[in-house]
Amino acid sequence: MTQNITGKVVVITGASSGLGEATARHLAGEGAKLVLGARRLDRLQALARELNLAPGAVIQADVTDAKQVKRLVDAAVEQHGRIDVILNNAGLMPLSPLERGKIEDWDAMIDVNLKGVLYGIAAALPHMTRQKSGHIINVSSVAGHKVRPGTAVYAATKIAVRMLSEGLRQEVKPYNIRTTIISPGAVQSELPQSVTEADVARGIENFYETYAIPADSFARMVAFAMSQPDDVDINEILFRPTSQEL
Ligand SMILES: NC(=O)c1ccc[n+]([C@@H]2O[C@H](COP(=O)([O-])OP(=O)(O)OC[C@H]3O[C@@H](n4cnc5c(N)ncnc54)[C@H](OP(=O)(O)O)[C@@H]3O)[C@@H](O)[C@H]2O)c1
Repeated sequence: MTQNITGKVVVITGASSGLGEATARHLAGEGAKLVLGARRLDRLQALARELNLAPGAVIQADVTDAKQVKRLVDAAVEQHGRIDVILNNAGLMPLSPLERGKIEDWDAMIDVNLKGVLYGIAAALPHMTRQKSGHIINVSSVAGHKVRPGTAVYAATKIAVRMLSEGLRQEVKPYNIRTTIISPGAVQSELPQSVTEADVARGIENFYETYAIPADSFARMVAFAMSQPDDVDINEILFRPTSQEL
């Protein structure tokens, strides 16, 4: 067992596939108490059965609705008396050049990737400030460090996540709360399926087939940040497949 994970109450948004699901598996194996959210309840329920989670450990929660995110976090506190970690992970990546004017995709990325993270922070902070402890882990991306043609809006949401996380880090010092930004490169998940433009999707699928590494790589980063002693705050992790240049 890894130090400082066993028994921690961990809320994960977007736990029905990819990085969130892999993290749930990993942390369950380390003895964390999980409360998992996403829209696809059937997927969450199947995961809960596989991991033998406590009843009530999965909750349907759309992160574009602040009330649903609050319900998810409050459920964790009701069930376990506290919340130790929130992993604001839900996201989507419908990439396309700006000239295609995919306004619905832009709105969705802002609503899920940025506002969804804010709603997670809003839901968790009242509990964590009261507890005078907690750990907020926000998922950014390599795209939060580098923009490329076709990634402008996605990258804008991801750099915004980094910036608000750093502001949060400075604000929560009086409350003994840790904050971590994790920025992955290409990791195997369903993320390429969120691309809505066929030609862009083909390029992204090829890229992921060539470079993407297993989702447990991300889960290990979460475990690394969580497992530090309480006086050590891993503020930012950027990791890529060894073979990925950009
Ligand atoms: N995979 C990569 O290469 C990579 C690289 C950098 C960053 N990331 C980031 O990693 C995070 C996880 O993505 P992933 O790669 O694991 O992709 P994924 O397999 O597509 O998983 C995305 C998760 O987000 C959830 N989600 C999407 N919209 C939601 C909403 N409105 N409300 C609640 N949950 C929602 C999905 O669940 P439901 O559809 O069931 O709601 C799903 O569980 C994202 O923030 C992504 O930007 C991934």
